[in-house]
Amino acid sequence: MNNMSITRRKFLALLSSASALPILGVGRAEASKTFNADVEIKLTAKSDKVSIFSGNKTQVYRYQGEVVKGEAGTLQTIKGSYLGPVLRFRKGQKVRIRFVNQLSEESIIHWHGLHIPDDMDGHPRFAVNGGEEYIYEFTVNNRAGTYWFHPHPHGNTAHQAYMGMAGLLIISDREEQALGLPSDEYDLPIVIQDRSFNRDNQLQYIGPSMMGMMQRMTGFKGEQIMINGLSDNTLSVATRPYRLRLLNGSNSRIYKLAWNDDSPLRVIATDGGLLENPEQRPYIMLAPGERIELWVDFSRYKIGTELTLRHLPMEESMSGSGMMGRMMRQSALSSNEGFEVLRVKVNKRSNTRLSIPNRLSQISHYPSDSIDKHRKFKLTMDHRQPGIDHRSFSMTEVSEYEVVKFGALEIWEFQNDVSGGMGPMPHPMHVHGVQFQVIERSVSADYEAAYEDVQYGYIDSGWKDTVLVMPGERVKLLIKFNHYDGMYLYHCHNLEHEDLGMMRNYLVKR
Ligand code: C2O
Ligand code: CU
Ligand code: CU
Repeated sequence: MNNMSITRRKFLALLSSASALPILGVGRAEASKTFNADVEIKLTAKSDKVSIFSGNKTQVYRYQGEVVKGEAGTLQTIKGSYLGPVLRFRKGQKVRIRFVNQLSEESIIHWHGLHIPDDMDGHPRFAVNGGEEYIYEFTVNNRAGTYWFHPHPHGNTAHQAYMGMAGLLIISDREEQALGLPSDEYDLPIVIQDRSFNRDNQLQYIGPSMMGMMQRMTGFKGEQIMINGLSDNTLSVATRPYRLRLLNGSNSRIYKLAWNDDSPLRVIATDGGLLENPEQRPYIMLAPGERIELWVDFSRYKIGTELTLRHLPMEESMSGSGMMGRMMRQSALSSNEGFEVLRVKVNKRSNTRLSIPNRLSQISHYPSDSIDKHRKFKLTMDHRQPGIDHRSFSMTEVSEYEVVKFGALEIWEFQNDVSGGMGPMPHPMHVHGVQFQVIERSVSADYEAAYEDVQYGYIDSGWKDTVLVMPGERVKLLIKFNHYDGMYLYHCHNLEHEDLGMMRNYLVKR
């Protein structure tokens, strides 16, 4: 079935370039007549100019959205932002998305965190050229939560995402609605990204030089924090509770976030939606690709109060800026010293009093005696080649070790045993097509002291699709492969690592 659609896509592409006929739709070649979409949107990837600063506009790549069918509220555009629109879906909805690639390079969209068939997942083997389209049709199966979308063409994901191609995808469901959590203007996206701009306000990425090669090995680190694709990181709030949906949309930077007045953070959700109960932390770790939702009650602050959410200083060996970082020019945002991420101004009065629910949701736990397989994956770094078990990405290759039986319950263990000459590096590992549970972490003796500095910031109790694996750390995940069969990816979400090949296919077979 997949092979057929690839062939058809290639054929149509060929046909159109030969005859200059307009392409009617590729990938899943055209909208299928039997799929009765509740909502239909069009997302166009194109290069564009936005006013991020005063003076020159900034050249970006971005997703532009349009509702073709369904409520206008399906798309929410963030004014002045380079980010794509926020997509809002309900569980159970049938969605058609027409992706139009108007860039002059190939691309494809991946829906990060969703349970969808493999030809809807945005695997790089489905990338379409500039001028082509890809039609997605799927049912929203996931729980309510904060998901996101971004490009996934092989070798070019980091650059395209960096140029602005990303957006949030928010799913709601009845279970969540019954809780009466803060909504609308009190439910806010906070997409955190680091970027560098030159004096003409243009985005600076990693160059092709020797230094660039080294930067690529650690991952890009920017000199300025952008919130929701805007340079202004200030949020005006009222004296009442808010729901803040944080996404680390940075290419490689890991954040250790805390309030400047030492208030604990109250976490209500992770990648795959609501926790069972709220959890409190002195700080939270947020790696690229991860989401976390906070309940923040500003009612105890006086009007005029200013708060900041800060990145706390982190041990060099944990931030991945150790040896490599010292060799290169340090970014203006020093992971080792800390910096401001978000500024909050409490400047509106509100009398709404809501209290945080004690019970948020029910999470089913797998019986631990029914595990079918325990797979171990070493995160490796061989001579400038980040990989998984010393292998790097190859478009459709799956090793025997990467074939999973449909329906199996497995332990996947990622081992970041530091070896090789590049120094310790953290790896946020992401598995497509599933939500998993983190069941165990351990750290080697060499890294125990540094680990002490980050370990209280993990939220491992909920559903996740991306997990931070620190230097010296081993993390065990419990994953049930019961959604779809087919070929999916697992990879490091440090986007430079991903592009360098720290990504592999796995195949779910019936
Ligand atoms: Cu958000 Cu394959 O990644
Ligand atoms: Cu993903
Ligand atoms: Cu990595």
